[in-house]
Amino acid sequence: QVLVHPRVEGTYGIAVMHADFNDRIVVARNGSPVILGIGEKEMLVASDVAALIAHTRQVVTLDDGEMATLKADDFRTYTVAGASTTSTPETVEWEAASYDMGGHDTYMHKEISEQPDAVDRVLRGRIDDRFSTVHLGGLNLDPREARTIRRIKILGCGTSYHAGLIGASLIEGMARIPADAEPASEFRYRNPVVDPDTLYIAVSQSGETYDVLAAVQELKRKGARVLGVVNVVGSAIAREADGGVYVHAGPEVCVVSTKCFTNTVVAFALLALHLGRIRDLSVTDGKRIIEGLRKLPAQIEEILKTEDEIKSIAAEYAGAQSMMFIGRVRGYPVALEASLKLKEISYIHAEAYPASELKHGPLALIEPALPTVAIVPDDDLLEKNRAALEEIKARSGRILAVAHQPQEKADHTIVVPKNEDELDPILMGIPLQLFAYHTALAMGRDIDKPRNLAKSVTVE
Ligand code: M6R
Repeated sequence: QVLVHPRVEGTYGIAVMHADFNDRIVVARNGSPVILGIGEKEMLVASDVAALIAHTRQVVTLDDGEMATLKADDFRTYTVAGASTTSTPETVEWEAASYDMGGHDTYMHKEISEQPDAVDRVLRGRIDDRFSTVHLGGLNLDPREARTIRRIKILGCGTSYHAGLIGASLIEGMARIPADAEPASEFRYRNPVVDPDTLYIAVSQSGETYDVLAAVQELKRKGARVLGVVNVVGSAIAREADGGVYVHAGPEVCVVSTKCFTNTVVAFALLALHLGRIRDLSVTDGKRIIEGLRKLPAQIEEILKTEDEIKSIAAEYAGAQSMMFIGRVRGYPVALEASLKLKEISYIHAEAYPASELKHGPLALIEPALPTVAIVPDDDLLEKNRAALEEIKARSGRILAVAHQPQEKADHTIVVPKNEDELDPILMGIPLQLFAYHTALAMGRDIDKPRNLAKSVTVE
């Protein structure tokens, strides 16, 4: 047995071989994922299930501080101290075919176009029409406990954090529980007060993002209750959490997240509806939200059909040095996510602001060379949003609006179908994924592998 582990410092997932023992590989995990693939007379090791799926669907995910020795026909897992641990292989549900490009030029395009099916999957088997609510099997939160929650704090990074911002507003709106979202990467460094009446929710596509995992571990150490909203089944965050909701987006290969963002927001809508119906959300409102959720796949399909129009709009903005994204209340996280998408794959500098903040500073930037993308839903804030468009037009700023009806002050409007006000952010984000995609494509960028970025950030 090789006990290298106590002498290795930091975060790692390592695999080592020794010239004198060339029939085995010894692996160890601390913070970064290590997954064993259990094949027919072969054992495999990888940091992501995606690398194993073509060979086997039987996998064992190591825990932090765990090691394993693999030989061609056998494997053994044990702790740093050498005590054996029990590891039963799990079957990965994802098909090898999910990793093909399926006729698309990029994984990003494939994943954007998969969204109607992905949303259908996150809803499947969860809606309970009888009580106008949803069943979330893995939540591990009984109604009595749910009623005692006083606050909800959502933690995630990047796109998952943005999905968490929408999630917080869905929960606050439907369940009337004060909720907010914070980047997990900041939360873990600020010695936060951990409140026993707060429910913490960790959001992650990969379930392996180190900043999120470390925040979850710190919360658990302090006795907090933590749920996960995670895509990858059996990932570290899913296993550390006390319960949660799987997002069921299927494998997301492109470095930038699209379908997983959408599915995560839908998963939050389910959670908000569930908590709302335990608390004060009426049967009528429950029904209204369920009807809205059911409409989403077909409405996303409708948006995807406007791709050619979005492509020609993107061609006009592709040369921009910088872009501004604005949204108000529910629209603001949509603006944040759309600006992240654009900068990740096109490398155009982009900023997102609440529309209400324009006059407090960023208005100074507006001029013809700085286009603005504005989220303008048909809701109670429509007139306020239109006023912001007027302010921008008065400074000769170019405007691309994403709205439910053509906007007079905008140079271009991408019109999206209307759903319930609460669910509109889900739909309004989708054309802007295509906008970022076609802008980056027009600029000749490597869309699936943007510079300096990795799919899973498993290091600090
Ligand atoms: O796997 P996670 O959802 O935890 O990843 C979090 C972020 O690293 C991720 O969303 C990142 O921002 C993507 N590049 C977004 O496109």
